[in-house]
Amino acid sequence: MNGVQVVGGSNPLAPTIFMSMKTITIGLIGFGTIGKGVVKTLQANKELVETRIGAPIQLKWVADLDITSDRGVKVDPSVLTTDAMQVVNDPDVDVVIELIGGCGVAKHIILSALRNGKSVITANKALLAEHGNEIFSAVQAVNGMIAYEASVCGGIPVIKALREGLVANNIQSMYGIINGTANYILTKMTQDGISYEEALKQAQSLGYAEADPTLDVEGIDAAHKLLILGSLATGAIFEMRDIYIEGIRNITDKDIQYAAEFGYGVKLLGIYKQQAGSVELRVHPTLLPESHLLSSVMDAYNAVFITGDIVGHTMYYGRGAGELPTASAVVADLVDIGRSIANGKGRHNNEFTRDRSSVVVRDMNAIESRYYLRFSVIDIPGVLGQITGVLGKYRISISDVYQKERRKGEFVPLVMITHHAKEQGVRAALNEIDQLDVVKDKTLLIRMED
Ligand code: HSE
Repeated sequence: MNGVQVVGGSNPLAPTIFMSMKTITIGLIGFGTIGKGVVKTLQANKELVETRIGAPIQLKWVADLDITSDRGVKVDPSVLTTDAMQVVNDPDVDVVIELIGGCGVAKHIILSALRNGKSVITANKALLAEHGNEIFSAVQAVNGMIAYEASVCGGIPVIKALREGLVANNIQSMYGIINGTANYILTKMTQDGISYEEALKQAQSLGYAEADPTLDVEGIDAAHKLLILGSLATGAIFEMRDIYIEGIRNITDKDIQYAAEFGYGVKLLGIYKQQAGSVELRVHPTLLPESHLLSSVMDAYNAVFITGDIVGHTMYYGRGAGELPTASAVVADLVDIGRSIANGKGRHNNEFTRDRSSVVVRDMNAIESRYYLRFSVIDIPGVLGQITGVLGKYRISISDVYQKERRKGEFVPLVMITHHAKEQGVRAALNEIDQLDVVKDKTLLIRMED
């Protein structure tokens, strides 16, 4: 048999017959947490991966500025280099795995690798979200391939779900817990009754949150991921300015306690909705009924609840970050690409077939929602009347009112839940209410989903 190579080993599927003698040569750039996970995975499951590709693999390069620190994983010193361009320019390399992150050097590496005819695998959500058009234009120009399963929700194969499993559907909506750090903080505030600041400190000490947690707690990381999911669902590449973003910094443990009294939990959600010829893309804290499946997603776990017009409801759950879950996604992409190289067909991106200008993104003012409103008001007669008067003027109907604390003549929290209302009206009403003498602080608004 021509071109057939037999190997044995610990793989339960062995012995393997490779249908291709072509070795898939890999250059890994970025030997940080995920890079280390990829090396470990390729070592632990090498035969399994090769069997599934149908060809042998070789990790020819591991590039990083630091090639001396001990990462607890054995690598042949001859593969280590500090020169990323040596990897990108090596004619032997078939697949470049970019795990540096950020939008600087990483972009240059990816664009150069594509121009050099390499397939690219990346976990870089920020780059895809901030420069998606440029990256995918470059891919198209060379009829190349970029795979990015690890960029959204780490080990959860949600990109494959949208690209492949759900491809027969119009995606009607997606609700995602797509930032593990924020979910950890909100979980701790809920379960332990601790403040945002305390929960953030815990998240930092466990390594979930960075010293500067802005990207996670302000919703920016979630927006990067929502942009990628929304682009896949629609077929058009969105831009960050298409997404409304609000983080979790203003949520207090009291809000979580009040929400619970109404039967709701608070989650930071990435929301995509397609209806009436337009799409909504938004990231914000959201009150979800405690009975919703997403409400049971705790700690740093991620989950995405996707509804298609044919399939109905589906949900994807798992670890959204971390060394091995993210490496699992990177190596899945490697197997996909490796299979295409091995069978000589090549694999090309074909998921973005619509022009962005053909898609209407609904302005945030035009969305409709139910709202949780927490006012800070003086506890004296007539205050409730003043507030409901303004809400009524803007046709905002109240479904529940709640004032737990009673301190005559002092400022106390007053919580209301509204029926469905237009965001524009709610914002206008709150602007007016916040000017009233009986109101102290800016009113807190949290949108609700049922
Ligand atoms: N910092 C992210 C999170 C993981 O907390 O989910 C990487 O996107």
